[in-house]
Amino acid sequence: MDTGRLEVINPYIDAYLTQLAAAKEDEVLLEMEAVGIERNFPIVGPQVGRLLQVLTLLRRARVVFELGSGYGYSTLWFARAVGPGGEVHHTDRSGENREKARAYLSRAKILDRVRFHEGDAIESFEKSGASPDILFMDIDKEQYPRAYQSFKDRLRAGALVIVDNLLWDGRVIDMQNTEASTLGVKRYTDLILADRRYVTSVVPVRDGVGISLKIAE
Ligand SMILES: C[S@@+](CC[C@H](N)C(=O)[O-])C[C@H]1O[C@@H](n2cnc3c(N)ncnc32)[C@H](O)[C@@H]1O
Repeated sequence: MDTGRLEVINPYIDAYLTQLAAAKEDEVLLEMEAVGIERNFPIVGPQVGRLLQVLTLLRRARVVFELGSGYGYSTLWFARAVGPGGEVHHTDRSGENREKARAYLSRAKILDRVRFHEGDAIESFEKSGASPDILFMDIDKEQYPRAYQSFKDRLRAGALVIVDNLLWDGRVIDMQNTEASTLGVKRYTDLILADRRYVTSVVPVRDGVGISLKIAE
């Protein structure tokens, strides 16, 4: 089946959910969302942002490690949710994105909660020695299986792994699609579902969010 780019969610429902999730009073977030649309940059957007906030609060997470932070939109949702004294690790191979993130997070008055890493996100995670309560993944999709190999043993029981784009605009159900990104998403999904130390649910919010709780070391 050639699905092209499937509308995973009915567009009217999607618009309704986006409007419900929007942080209407938050000037910095709103500006970042406008920049995402203008630059066609794939930020997670308000629906997933709101989900990240709820999960962070529910988990009472103090340390969040992001793989792929762009100009800091998802970082901002996490940094607000971890609260004072919490820690969010921003990774992006682009220095330009990093500097933009620094500026936005400074304007949002939460820069002190954010640690910046340069270069490859997975290598930064490996070098950091951080033991996050939440690992959030939003890097190039072909790298998802490599990231899994890197975090699977290291995370403690109780850690949450949150992964964006697990529906990949519906390409995951196109058996003819052999793009490296699609194969990366499918391989990651197979790996995490087969790992008995993790309990996983794929939630069809926006482009599909994988939520995995590590229940055993
Ligand atoms: C989808 S965007 C991240 C958006 C961000 N999570 C948000 O919602 O605001 C992916 C970002 O990851 C970066 N990236 C992709 N693969 C990477 C890697 N292996 N190491 C570091 N950065 C990477 C890209 O430069 C890009 O800025």
